[in-house]
Amino acid sequence: MDVVIRPTAEDAAELTARLIAAALRARPNLTLGLATGCTMEAVYARLAWMHQEDGLDFSQCRTFNLDEYAGLPPEHPQSYRHYMNRHLFEKVNIQPGRTHLPDGTAADLRAECARYEELIVGCGGIDLQLLGIGLNGHLGFNEPLSSFRSRTRVVTLSPATRQQNAPLFSSPADMPRRALTMGLGTILEARRCLLLATGGDKADIVAWALEGPMCARVPASALQLHADCEVILDEAAAGRLEDADHYRSLFEQEPKWAPFRKG
Ligand code: GLP
Repeated sequence: MDVVIRPTAEDAAELTARLIAAALRARPNLTLGLATGCTMEAVYARLAWMHQEDGLDFSQCRTFNLDEYAGLPPEHPQSYRHYMNRHLFEKVNIQPGRTHLPDGTAADLRAECARYEELIVGCGGIDLQLLGIGLNGHLGFNEPLSSFRSRTRVVTLSPATRQQNAPLFSSPADMPRRALTMGLGTILEARRCLLLATGGDKADIVAWALEGPMCARVPASALQLHADCEVILDEAAAGRLEDADHYRSLFEQEPKWAPFRKG
C-alpha cells in the first residue's frame, strides 16, 4: 500500500485527479471504477476542468460505480446516478451508454446485482477503482462485518451510515434503508485501487484501516490485501497515523511520485 499525504484537501483531490488522468492518457479505453460522496466532488470538478481546458478524453473509457441506493430512480436528486451525471458525466465527453451503476429500481434486486457482476467481468474487469471511506470504514456500502469475499449484493445500511448520509436528503426520513453495492471481493479484483480521504473526522478510521489489523469490523482494512493500492490523504485525515513521517518521506523520495511532486 502506498500512502501519500498532501497538505490540504484540495491538494489531495488534485493529486487523485492527476493520477486518474495519467491512467486515462496511458490507456484511453480504461475501465474506471467510480465512487460518490462529498470527498469526490473536488476530484470530479478537477477532471471536468482537465477535459475542458486540457482535452482529457473520456470518449473511449467505461465506468462502473460502486453502489446505488435501493428504490431511487436515476432522476432522484440523491441517487448516485444523478450525482454522477451532475458532477462528471455531463461535464466530460463520456458516452452515456458506457457509464454503469447498479439499477436501484430493478424489480429483482438480487438478479440486478448478479447482472452487474457479470457486466464487470464481461468488460474485462476494472482497471482503476476510485474509493472513498465512510466514517465507519465502509467502502462503497460494504458496512462493518462485510465479508472480504463479498460480491455485488443488496445490503442494509448501518445506523452510522444513515446518520452520515441522511442530512443530504431534503427529508432525512427519505433516505433508503438498503442499497446495492459492489462487494469487497469485487473491489479487491480491480487491478489498481485509489482511496482518497480528507478531513479530520476521517483520521481515526483511516488509521484503523491502514495501520490496524485487517478485520471485517473495518471494511476498508481489506485494502491491505490489495497488491496495487494507493491511499491519498490530506494532513487532517493522516492525523492519527503512527508512521506519517515515513509516508511523507516516501512521496519525496520514490521515483514513481516524481511526476506528481510539482503542480
Ligand atoms: C457514501 C458512499 C461511499 C463513500 C462515502 C464517503 O456512503 N457510498 O462510497 O465512500 O459516502 O462519503 P464522504 O466523501 O461524503 O465522506
